[in-house]
Amino acid sequence: MDTRFPFVDWFRNASPYINAHRGRTFVILIEGEAMASGRGEQLIQDLALLHTLGVRLVVVFGIRPQVQEALTAAGVEPTRLNGRWVADRTIMAHVEQVAAHQRLWLEARLSLGLPSTPLHGVELSVISGNLVTAKPLGVREGVDFDHSGEVRRVRASAIEGLLEKGSLVLLPPLGFSSTGEVFDLDASDVAQHAAVALKADKLILLGESEGLEDEQGALLRQLSPADAEPRIQHAAPGSELARHLGMLVARSRERLEHEIDDYMVIERDGMVIGCAALHVFPDTGVAELACVAVHSNYRGGERGERLVEALERRARQRAVQEMFVLTTHTAHWFVERGFRAASLEELPTLKRETYNHARKSKVLVKTLAG
Ligand SMILES: CC(C)(COP(=O)(O)OP(=O)(O)OC[C@H]1O[C@@H](n2cnc3c(N)ncnc32)[C@H](O)[C@@H]1OP(=O)(O)O)[C@@H](O)C(=O)NCCC(=O)NCCS
Repeated sequence: MDTRFPFVDWFRNASPYINAHRGRTFVILIEGEAMASGRGEQLIQDLALLHTLGVRLVVVFGIRPQVQEALTAAGVEPTRLNGRWVADRTIMAHVEQVAAHQRLWLEARLSLGLPSTPLHGVELSVISGNLVTAKPLGVREGVDFDHSGEVRRVRASAIEGLLEKGSLVLLPPLGFSSTGEVFDLDASDVAQHAAVALKADKLILLGESEGLEDEQGALLRQLSPADAEPRIQHAAPGSELARHLGMLVARSRERLEHEIDDYMVIERDGMVIGCAALHVFPDTGVAELACVAVHSNYRGGERGERLVEALERRARQRAVQEMFVLTTHTAHWFVERGFRAASLEELPTLKRETYNHARKSKVLVKTLAG
């Protein structure tokens, strides 16, 4: 490795990600706590950089601590229940003021030419508007939440149009109702709905903590829904950790993995849109990856890749050393995911005996050991 040009190295490492993410849609939630933590300026630069690299950005911002601060300063004591306040006229006046201020601050920051950075001279169009419709939370546990609401609909096609034109879309935690009123929304609810409506490739949540850690204090880079659940149970109810993890688990359970024995399916709105299966051949250390398919309307969203990765993890847990697949049309797709062309002789005897020679399927193998 040539260390004389660290930038070249960095660029070489980063370039696959740049290519992989160009044209992808990211929904990024910046909670009010993340803004208040002094990381705001750096976050803005990161957003501008992602935008410059061709990522389609929808940024949702939270204002909870800022509103709380304004209410305390004004001597207003809000009624709270389950992490939401009863948004009466007084509270709404503060919510609207803080949201407008925060939006203007973000727009101003994103308009900055970012001098003395590689982004100097980048022009960014930031658009916000009536892109989220809301409905009232209504009366719950005997409490009327007044103008506290929840997302009714995210206007996906309007947002798509703006993203297509190269704009960054900014969504405040506010929604408008068909009765012409403004409702206070939970920013994470907005982000979650936006991610679903836009079929976003990534939903990124930025809050007050730097991330999740394991028992040794090392930053966790991956967490399965099953590992996340005990953390949610131990987190304080309504805390950022509980809300964020709860949301991610709900989304991944709904969209990603619904496991039945060694079959895995992806469901969306009650419909199976992807599947894959792992058949382990006992006492051989070999498993077949079978039935990998994604509904034609949902291809290109890395669902196939996630299915294969999930089954690969499971195969490793079951001490499988080699995973093979038979395919007539999709050999390249598997080769790009670490498989190599193999011969029929490498298959377990049982599989060789049932191989359909008329189909002429190609055999591909991936070594998992080590
Ligand atoms: C293969 C399949 C599962 C991929 O699902 P997916 O969710 O679209 O997968 P990903 O989003 O992870 O990958 C999409 C990429 O694979 C590429 N790809 C899709 N089919 C391919 C093929 N037959 N050969 C090579 N590449 C292929 C796409 O062009 C896309 O690449 P791009 O982003 O550079 O355009 C899906 O195309 C499918 O169901 N195909 C029909 C069934 C099949 O062939 N199954 C495998 C045999 S068991």
